[in-house]
Amino acid sequence: MKNMMQNDNIIDIPSLQWYPGHMRKAERLVQENLKSVDVVVELLDARIPMSSANPVLREIVGGKPRLIVLNKADLADEYVTRAWVKYYAAEGLSAVPVDAVKGKGTKELVQAIARCAKPKTDKLVQHGAKPRAARCMILGIPNVGKSSLINRLSGGTKTKVENRPGVTRAKQWIRLGAQLELLDMPGILWPKFEDQQAALHLAFTGAINDNVYDVGSVVLLLLNRLREDTPQSLCTRYQLDEPLPEGIDLLDAIGRKRGCLRAGGKIDYEKAEQVILSDFRSGRLGRISLDAVPCIPSV
Ligand code: G4P
Repeated sequence: MKNMMQNDNIIDIPSLQWYPGHMRKAERLVQENLKSVDVVVELLDARIPMSSANPVLREIVGGKPRLIVLNKADLADEYVTRAWVKYYAAEGLSAVPVDAVKGKGTKELVQAIARCAKPKTDKLVQHGAKPRAARCMILGIPNVGKSSLINRLSGGTKTKVENRPGVTRAKQWIRLGAQLELLDMPGILWPKFEDQQAALHLAFTGAINDNVYDVGSVVLLLLNRLREDTPQSLCTRYQLDEPLPEGIDLLDAIGRKRGCLRAGGKIDYEKAEQVILSDFRSGRLGRISLDAVPCIPSV
């Protein structure tokens, strides 16, 4: 078993890519660039908004206006995503569901960013400055869709804005119409490695590289979760009947149905595991949200 301890529910995924040095560097980069923007756009995975959030972003960003993008909304349960939007609203944050690959929700996002920056841009005008576009930066953990969103917003053809004096390093800005300028620098944040439930959700969705944990164990945990929460997704995709078998028997059944076999008819477990992960991550098992929405405290 690779670098991993396991009990019935959790795995211990080592933070191989994220040494304290990396974290400090990432934090410093965000802080350096913070001064140049009006709004920080935090990209979360709509299937796992809690698990894909950076544990200290709120502190790093301080009082700067923040806006949430629930990206990969095409892969998440629509009803649950709506509940997340309400949850963030109760926290005083705007959240916009987006599919960065197809571009769904990006128009609403641009409008929301402009709204979020308006108090600052209006104030500048009141103090005699010329009206200008809202400036924002996009932050998020690896693989959450930062590059896809920047590409989508810029329409693939990036209209560069001249270098600005007073910025700490040569930065490229992308102009998005009259309303918005985007820092062409996806700010990479580290996820919640210490939170075991979050680490597991990050592994299920592919946010953590598959070679830092034991794929076999993670797939069994994923199957267990799907069997409990959305058994119909497994029955439909793999033509299985309820009651579904458990654990390795379920993996066997899926492997057989999908023809993941070695010579002699034995199950090719590695192949079956890859089929399941790929089906889950691409939405072929349906739109499935993993993080539960916390209760909104009544006021
Ligand atoms: P990053 O910059 O934050 O690291 O993420 P990036 O844009 O590279 O996206 C990571 C993967 O997530 C890519 O898939 C990308 O296509 C996919 N992705 C990004 N946004 C969305 C979305 O809204 N919906 C869906 N379904 N997928 C999204 P990949 O398989 O790694 O690469 P590719 O071959 O699909 O490009």
